[in-house]
Amino acid sequence: MASENKQDATHLLIDDHRKVEGLFAKFEKASGDGTKEKLAHEICTELKIHTMLEEEIFYPALRGKIDDADLDEAIVEHDSAKLLINDIEAAEPDDDFYDAKVKVLQEEIEHHIKEEEKERGNIFQQARATDVDLEALGERMAARKQALMRKATSEGLPPARPIAVETA
Ligand SMILES: [Fe+2]
Ligand SMILES: [Fe+2]
Repeated sequence: MASENKQDATHLLIDDHRKVEGLFAKFEKASGDGTKEKLAHEICTELKIHTMLEEEIFYPALRGKIDDADLDEAIVEHDSAKLLINDIEAAEPDDDFYDAKVKVLQEEIEHHIKEEEKERGNIFQQARATDVDLEALGERMAARKQALMRKATSEGLPPARPIAVETA
């Protein structure tokens, strides 16, 4: 199914990163509560699905093969982002701090993307140096992504669940 578009796992994730960066840029320029809410919802959905793909499939495949501390840090960064994602999803664009929350989420994600794919010794670079079959992983992730996207449009996704950070 859709095997003509085979993509290695890191490229699939990089495409997601570019997409969400584009959405944040649109949000920065957006005016009107309706547009902002729609964009924020799209950002949150993209990030929920992306973090699930990484946490369920990508990071576990790399555990023990790349720097452990980098993976731990990535998971805690996801958790931190999830707190804002859930908060933004529950809020309205005219609520206090709404724009600030989206802005801080953007900054957190930009920092996280640097560590995954941009800075020296980043996670994706480390992944490419392992014997992990990134194409096979990419295929699994693409299938999971499709299923989650379908769920997001039909019934909506539940709030994001932090893994490492206690929330209550
Ligand atoms: Fe990522
Ligand atoms: Fe990530």
